[in-house]
Amino acid sequence: MLIKRHRGWELPENHATPEAVFLNRRQIVAGLGAAGLVAAGIRPARAQASGIAAELYPAKRNPAYTLDRELTEEKVATSYNNFYEFGTSKNIVRPAQALTIKPWQVKIDGMVEKEITIDAEDLIRKMPIDERLYRHRCVEAWSMAVPWTGFPLKALVDFAKPLSGAKYLRMETFKRPEEASGQKQFWYPWPYVEGLSIAEARNDLAYIATGVYGKPIPKQMGAPLRLAVPWKYGFKSVKSITRFSFTDQKPKSFWEGMAADEYGFWANVNPAVAHPRWSQATEEVIGTGKRVPTLIYNGYGEQVAELYKDMAGQKLFM
Ligand code: MTE
Repeated sequence: MLIKRHRGWELPENHATPEAVFLNRRQIVAGLGAAGLVAAGIRPARAQASGIAAELYPAKRNPAYTLDRELTEEKVATSYNNFYEFGTSKNIVRPAQALTIKPWQVKIDGMVEKEITIDAEDLIRKMPIDERLYRHRCVEAWSMAVPWTGFPLKALVDFAKPLSGAKYLRMETFKRPEEASGQKQFWYPWPYVEGLSIAEARNDLAYIATGVYGKPIPKQMGAPLRLAVPWKYGFKSVKSITRFSFTDQKPKSFWEGMAADEYGFWANVNPAVAHPRWSQATEEVIGTGKRVPTLIYNGYGEQVAELYKDMAGQKLFM
């Protein structure tokens, strides 16, 4: 790792690396394949399924969500992760196994008819489960294509019965520094928080992934519940959610708390709007060694552009 210290006023690994160096390093890693990764000291790890509601997998694939590209190989997608609670490298499989996910209490609160706390397993079993193939585009200019299993977020919104004044859904990850050593790094604004507008949360594409590759989702990918909003940069897709709060206040997200001039609330993918320090025009498809053009809304404009039609003047793409 190039970064030894990581403070609020410093930058995450890729951000602190000149873009060309950073992209080149990723290309090298992607081109190495599993054996090369080990030789390079980067250990690809096996998916460690959470085992939660295991009888639901594999689920029936929903034909409405297919892809224009090959799926990322399972061993690549499950061993190249961002999960800062367990460290700032991409190789956090091993430390992430320390996370206790059974039991997993999920709180639904704020502007709802009735606040509840429910175990993740009970919640998942109440939801309409399917499998969907989604693109996944990180703000760091890499991408994957992943077969998630899970349920539409709008099913959870309906289950929660928000009050009419609720405008946003705030989602929060656990805070357990004893299990997640990254959370001992006090300069980060833990817990990880993300948010969507209620209209976004009710969009058909907004999804809670509980599984991947036909199995319960492994810890490093956000067991037992993580968001998947494929038209937005990956940092919006908060992992290991413990709390869904309905509110009339726009939530302040983890990355906004770190660098508001670089990471905003909407964070919709747009190749024409560069990150302040690198281009978003193309992306490296992890595991293939190829770069491809990035698409507006990550290719999901037909499903989501409508959500933003009256928001001219807002920073929709950062
Ligand atoms: N959620 C939590 N709780 N902590 C994180 O560090 N990283 C985000 C997002 N969700 C993150 C998180 C980022 S930057 C990305 S790109 C995706 O998770 C990565 O998801 P993946 O590891 O499943 O590919």
